Amino acid sequence: MKKFSAAHPEFATFLSWAKSAPWTGSYAEEHYNSLDSFLFVDGSGAAHPIRWSLVPAAQPVPVSPDDLAKRGPDFLEQEITQRVAAGPQRWSLVVTVANPGDPTADPNKAWPADRRTVEVGTLIVQQIEPERDGPCRDINFDPTVLPAGIKTSDDPFPAARSAAYSRSYNSRTAEESYYPRTATGAQQ
Ligand code: HEM
Repeated sequence: MKKFSAAHPEFATFLSWAKSAPWTGSYAEEHYNSLDSFLFVDGSGAAHPIRWSLVPAAQPVPVSPDDLAKRGPDFLEQEITQRVAAGPQRWSLVVTVANPGDPTADPNKAWPADRRTVEVGTLIVQQIEPERDGPCRDINFDPTVLPAGIKTSDDPFPAARSAAYSRSYNSRTAEESYYPRTATGAQQ
């Protein structure tokens, strides 16, 4: 990691954020940020560069790194399973609209904090299923496969990720015969 960050000084921005980030004990209390820029197309067909965030409805409760280290390796998975069983968890989908000239091609570069934001939807998680033989396992989460109205921008990372995800997906599905089986022994 030392060699990598020396060769890529832009990585320092993430490292300093990670040192000061408010760590929480729950997926439900976290912000999820695209970092990558995408284009949102409005009703008139005009494309607007944006970055999206899923902003939690749950109030974040900071937990110190020492306290986190004491919890078990799967505590986040156990916590979200219990929390969703007790009630649905929500996030707002918020898009931040770029001003002309904002760097869309470099996800390392933050945009100024005063950019216009628009709340465009709500994610409601009502059910958690284990991943080992669940319905999300056989999906390739390719960030360039997008619904109508959302397109890739000049940010080169989604295309690079698409190539890496395809290779990973092909490798793991080629080992399908080793996949976990359900309790009844039937393969999913
Ligand atoms: C904005 C930056 C990124 C985000 C938000 C992101 C997000 C994700 C997500 C959500 C998954 C699926 C995880 C799951 O199945 O549980 C994933 C998988 C993966 N990511 Fe990324 N990722 C990013 C950058 C990258 C980069 C730069 C690379 C390497 C070029 C990369 C390589 C991979 C690979 C190889 C997989 C596994 C793909 C598969 O087997 O389906 N990611 N990523």
